[in-house]
Amino acid sequence: NSSIKTEPTVFIIFGGTGDLTSRKIAPALYNLFLDGWLPAQYSIIGTGRTKFTDEQFSENLLKDINQFSRSGKADPKKWAEFSKNIHYQVSDINDFETYKEFGKRVEEHNTEWKTQANVIYYLAVSPNFFPIIASNISKAKLAEDPDRVRIVIEKPFGHDLETAKELNKLLSGIFNECQIYRIDHYLGKETVQNIMAFRFANSIMEPLWNRNYIEHVQISVTEQLGVEERGDYYDGAGAMRDMIQNHLLQLLCHIAMEPPVSFNADEVRNRKVDVLKAMRRFGPDDVRMSAVRGQYASGWMQGKEVPGYREEPKVDPESNTETFAAVKFFVDNWRWQNVPFYVRTGKRMHQSASVITIQFKDVPHLIFPTEAAESWQQNRLIISIQPEMSIRLQVQAKRPGLDMVLNTVDMVFDYKGTYTTQPPEAYETLILDTMLGDQTLFMRGDQVEAAWELIMPILSTWQTKKSLNFPNYSADSWGPESAEALIARDGFNWFTLP
Ligand code: BG6
Repeated sequence: NSSIKTEPTVFIIFGGTGDLTSRKIAPALYNLFLDGWLPAQYSIIGTGRTKFTDEQFSENLLKDINQFSRSGKADPKKWAEFSKNIHYQVSDINDFETYKEFGKRVEEHNTEWKTQANVIYYLAVSPNFFPIIASNISKAKLAEDPDRVRIVIEKPFGHDLETAKELNKLLSGIFNECQIYRIDHYLGKETVQNIMAFRFANSIMEPLWNRNYIEHVQISVTEQLGVEERGDYYDGAGAMRDMIQNHLLQLLCHIAMEPPVSFNADEVRNRKVDVLKAMRRFGPDDVRMSAVRGQYASGWMQGKEVPGYREEPKVDPESNTETFAAVKFFVDNWRWQNVPFYVRTGKRMHQSASVITIQFKDVPHLIFPTEAAESWQQNRLIISIQPEMSIRLQVQAKRPGLDMVLNTVDMVFDYKGTYTTQPPEAYETLILDTMLGDQTLFMRGDQVEAAWELIMPILSTWQTKKSLNFPNYSADSWGPESAEALIARDGFNWFTLP
């Protein structure tokens, strides 16, 4: 399918029996296999505490793939071919012997394949286990070859700036930065990757892409789902840590970054770090004025009664954790001076949609009589990431007829109408990149720290000042009123797709 080829790989999944493996990693590996991206020589080794034979483990993965893969139920012939290379090893991640065993397995593959394979350690486990796994990999001398050995780490990457720094320090004592793949799965989404293509492969946007033409930017990632079964993790995190620190700030970086000199991992990531460093810092008063939080109450969603956040399993009944957050950011540089970036995210919201809206300034002078403008709206560029995958530019146009009447219309690039192929899942892209050794879509250590540094004042203020009015928005709403007020004070309102 392309001249890019993956090399022989041993792919070891810690947390092989966990939820992430079932829902994302296994289907992604299988679809990479179907699309011809896996190398001829590969081995997938799942590991966990429960005892399984290779066959039992592979049977479980088949069930997961049948349920979660975008390609639907697995074809028996293809599955038989793919699953020949699936193995399982029962392990105790605290026990050094486990790691020696991995070393032996890699060596066996190397002998059998007559090569030195790449080895990817995928840590699909709770972050408490990152240090022990990383240290044991090092102790067992499994990380010696920086060109071949890679480690993949899932979020949360730290709980705050300090813990993120500690984790970076630990990892960089064992691995080179070029071996560490920190996942932010939003970066793997097709429509998110397309933002850079749209900005930097077209000449018509760049002249407009600045404070002279753009009035404000909105980034909204709303979900209808509640916290589900993840109360134990989420109650210690909240929307700011769970979504804004990573996904939303990364989207903001895609919009605000300067053009990199090339599409090289470090060039791209340097420009993103520049954005985070240029973002205006918050003092305690700024937090009050520029950041709002919410927590969902019970309510009805699609005809079903749903519990409030405090009634969810494994959540403190008096929890002060926010399930909604909205922040007004500024990027203090030449391009963006005084252009507000409004971001919001929340659970149990009226709509599941991730949308970036760029609102341009008004025309300097309207030559048409005001009555001519039946619907008048400043130009907007709407980048819809999911579930709709599109880019629409809203412009004014004359309505056909004998009189001069103006309407706002959409010029649309819609994935569905343009392409017939199904786009890959974020995890397919990201896992393939770990095999290819391409870090462009992964978070570098300094990027993670810069994002934490920016939001720490908000987190600390919220931690010391409990919110007295939680829960403050009902399920199936657009979040608390204070979020409307945050943007309305500046004369704008949140944009929603119809
Ligand atoms: C995860 C968060 O990183 O992203 C979840 O931990 C959230 O709370 C999820 O639901 C959203 O991802 P997506 O791809 O469904 O938009």
